[in-house]
Amino acid sequence: MKFFLDTGNIEEIRRVNRLGLVDGVTTNPTLIAKEKRPFKEVIQEICREVSGPVSAEVVGLTTEEMLKEAREIATWAPNIVVKIPMTEAGLEAVNILSKEGIKTNVTLIFSAAQGLMACKAGATYISPFVGRIDDIGEEGMQLVRDLKAIKDNYGFKTEIIVASVRSIAHVQQAAVIGADIATIPGSLFPSLWKHPLTDVGIARFLEDWKKVPQ
Ligand code: G3P
Repeated sequence: MKFFLDTGNIEEIRRVNRLGLVDGVTTNPTLIAKEKRPFKEVIQEICREVSGPVSAEVVGLTTEEMLKEAREIATWAPNIVVKIPMTEAGLEAVNILSKEGIKTNVTLIFSAAQGLMACKAGATYISPFVGRIDDIGEEGMQLVRDLKAIKDNYGFKTEIIVASVRSIAHVQQAAVIGADIATIPGSLFPSLWKHPLTDVGIARFLEDWKKVPQ
């Protein structure tokens, strides 16, 4: 499974990139707003740091607005993916952009039907939001299982990005299901390599090492 970082923060990306674990980055308007810097500047800096795909989201709601923004954003770097919301206008934009060779990530997917339509429209990636489904009392990971089955049934090339990831369990379950990618918040990522028993184990080894005659 590929690891994307779900952040607009370059320091969070650099920290994980030093470990060779960043396969790509996803952003959204909320994450960009946190950086308090111009959108293009943030995205271009991330694209210089990471060679994998970097998703940048449009904010227009009509197909024409989305296409205009997408064609502009796609010129910012060779590894740009344009994030498009899952709407009728969005599907039309994805269909056109896919024919122009512009990569798309259809975001805010909350049902298998939405995912299926995005695959058929030509999306490069689809992003089911598992955490937000859990928030309303349903099981987000069931949607990932369903999308994986649909993808396998029909051989869609579209890659599934498990998004709205909130916990280590989400990342582990995504990998067990066989999702292509999990996009992980920069603040959550370091907890993936930590375990309290590892810390206890190291402390005990160091304590015991003092008993070894030097
Ligand atoms: O990748 C989508 C993600 O940024 C949304 O996460 O936690 O706001 O639902 P969250």
